[in-house]
Amino acid sequence: MRRVFSGFSSSSRAEYRLNVFLAFFLFPHVKEIVASAPGKVILFGEHFVVEGQPAVAAAISLRARVSAKPLESPVIRVTSKNLGLSEAFELGKLEPRSPLYPVAYAASLALREVEAGGGVELLIDSDIAPGAGMGSSAAVAVAAVAAASAAWGHVLPREQVSKLAFEAEKIVHGKPSGIDNTIAAYGGAIAYRKGEGFLKLKVDFSPVALVLADTGKPRRTGELVQKVLNLKAAFPQVLDPLYYAAGRLVVEAAKMMERGDFEAVGTLMNVNHGLLHAIGVSTLEIEQLVYRARQAGALGAKLTGAGGGGFIVALCWREALQSVVQALSELSPRVLTVGIDTEGVKVERIREKS
Ligand code: MEV
Repeated sequence: MRRVFSGFSSSSRAEYRLNVFLAFFLFPHVKEIVASAPGKVILFGEHFVVEGQPAVAAAISLRARVSAKPLESPVIRVTSKNLGLSEAFELGKLEPRSPLYPVAYAASLALREVEAGGGVELLIDSDIAPGAGMGSSAAVAVAAVAAASAAWGHVLPREQVSKLAFEAEKIVHGKPSGIDNTIAAYGGAIAYRKGEGFLKLKVDFSPVALVLADTGKPRRTGELVQKVLNLKAAFPQVLDPLYYAAGRLVVEAAKMMERGDFEAVGTLMNVNHGLLHAIGVSTLEIEQLVYRARQAGALGAKLTGAGGGGFIVALCWREALQSVVQALSELSPRVLTVGIDTEGVKVERIREKS
């Protein structure tokens, strides 16, 4: 595999800066902005990526939006429409007393970074189901960092947004690899390796569709990551070759994706699922959905994200989409067909101060 380094293409940087320019210079009366970031699906390599193997993820057409208003007082007020929670945190004295703490913490880092002269009010509104493997917490953290800094008139580069959001991810998940905040910040499809950064993949997804089906069972990523790490520590001789195989599989899969060989991509998704089953993160509900998707004509299907519940992802030709969706709907409370997001984090829109 080519070594991958974090990069930020000049065109996407220019686009991002232009958005904020439009927000603040063309509409100087506007004091509230909205930043948003996409959720993700891990196509290959989850869990193995935590221990340094590469993984492939794609950003999806579901977003977390965070609107931000600067506050004169040194307070971060976070309200989540989805969780029905609202909490005020004092800057410099943040306490981990609520589920909103990681977002407040990420925002506090953003405010420090831009030397803001006060606090910020954040309102979270997300399309991404939490605890489902779709990168909900990372998308919220990335959007919150971008929104908080932009509310004080500063544009942080994507790399910096991702880095600060990663600090929130550590609070939520314990030992994350960093893939979720990276894909939320950059969008598209990426090959990622912890400690090395990422490489944007050039994939034409137009002949295929990605279908996500919910097991209806939420779970905690941090606990599953720890469970897998414990298994690896207990049986390194057995697990090390599986990690090696997972790494090789990702290199091959990235090649096949760029080549547009989706039959091969689907086959490798099935192999990847087998490895995830072997490390103990599949469940009966996941297996039922994965097998049903394959029977209905999917090119490949696997769990995505941490497993233990959450969603599965199936890849199918567009022609097979309807039969795969129908078959999965018989078993799953929620079946989604998602597109690929190519934008990553963006300053999405502006609102007049009320
Ligand atoms: C979570 O979306 C993916 C895991 O590999 C954890 C991580 O990479 O941080 C399970």
